[in-house]
Amino acid sequence: MNFPEKLQKKLQKRIHNNSLRSLGENRNLIDFSSNDYLGFSKSEEIFKKAHQFLVTNKSIQNGATGSRLLSGNYDLYSLVEKELSVFHNIEGALLFNSGYNANLGVFSSVPQRGDYILYDELIHASIRDGIQLSNAKQYKFNHNDIKHLEDRIISIKKEFKNNDSAIYVVTESVFSMDGDIPDLKKMVEICESHQVFFIVDEAHSVGVFGMNGRGLIQELGLENKIFARIITFGKALGSHGAVVLGSQKLKEYLVNFSRSFIYTTGLPPHAIATIKQVYQLLESINGVKSIQQLHENIHHFQTEIERLQLNFIKSKSAIHCCVVSGNEQTKRIAKRMQDNGFDVKPILSPTVAEGQERLRFCLHSYNTKKEITQVLENLSTFVM
Ligand SMILES: Cc1ncc(COP(=O)(O)O)c(C=O)c1O
Repeated sequence: MNFPEKLQKKLQKRIHNNSLRSLGENRNLIDFSSNDYLGFSKSEEIFKKAHQFLVTNKSIQNGATGSRLLSGNYDLYSLVEKELSVFHNIEGALLFNSGYNANLGVFSSVPQRGDYILYDELIHASIRDGIQLSNAKQYKFNHNDIKHLEDRIISIKKEFKNNDSAIYVVTESVFSMDGDIPDLKKMVEICESHQVFFIVDEAHSVGVFGMNGRGLIQELGLENKIFARIITFGKALGSHGAVVLGSQKLKEYLVNFSRSFIYTTGLPPHAIATIKQVYQLLESINGVKSIQQLHENIHHFQTEIERLQLNFIKSKSAIHCCVVSGNEQTKRIAKRMQDNGFDVKPILSPTVAEGQERLRFCLHSYNTKKEITQVLENLSTFVM
């Protein structure tokens, strides 16, 4: 069958730019690339307890059978949503099928025509896609630039035609491709003083920061000042799905208007039972130990970066990036490091801006100090 010419051209352009994506195979290398920061994805304890919970509660069911608004809602959903709202100290918690779905659902439905969305220029693709589906006006502000954000708010307010126009500001508490952290306190102050709604994606912060991994927003005590928090379970929590945290009104609104919530089959019970067990582990001694171990490894990584005088984007999180520049060069170094046994992934343009192509190192509780030293010593043979 013919393949449309326009699509063929797009693929050829990718080949030409050295940016063609393909599905890799698992080579059992030392993990410096997965989002499984705490090793929960391989936890036998979570796996067995989730299964046992379902058996004990006679929930022998493989699928949700429909949208949650039709046949797909079951008791475990409300039980876990209640537990999540208590753990994350907020009124409303609404589970979504993934972080991508949650961001699509929030940003496509919440900001209305006549409203404004201000987003950090490095915001995740799922938020961008959600914003694209919205009828609100969209502006970006320079990455983590508080002054630029405030200037933008002030100039938008001058543009206001309707008194009921709302402004939504969105950022990530840990940036997925940089690992850096915005000044969230200052952002909250600005949002409060200009009466704008603040939305934070905590995908890479929950499980890493805050008491028992509650995330940066709770570490800073800001949970009641954030209009919506998006937490994903596929990163440090090693499972799947996401939750949007906010007021009960926000929850009610999303149930009514968020199309990625309404028009999709709910998660199967084993996914929800897994999330339940993940949170129990976070609250246990073993969970606390895993988080501590992760932070010791982050500290060791930083010490080794300094010792080897390597140039990394400043980060306190589990994500550390070394900008190499150029798709070809970045891919070449990543390939050499993989051949040496280290699973380090190249992040290429167009995922990041041209010239900002980088090697991304994700750290885990289960990496050893020796592995960390070795991977950085290996890197130092390729970059200055
Ligand atoms: C910041 C951020 N938000 C949302 C998502 C999407 O989450 P999920 O993988 O659960 O769809 C990701 C994952 O790539 C992410 O990094």
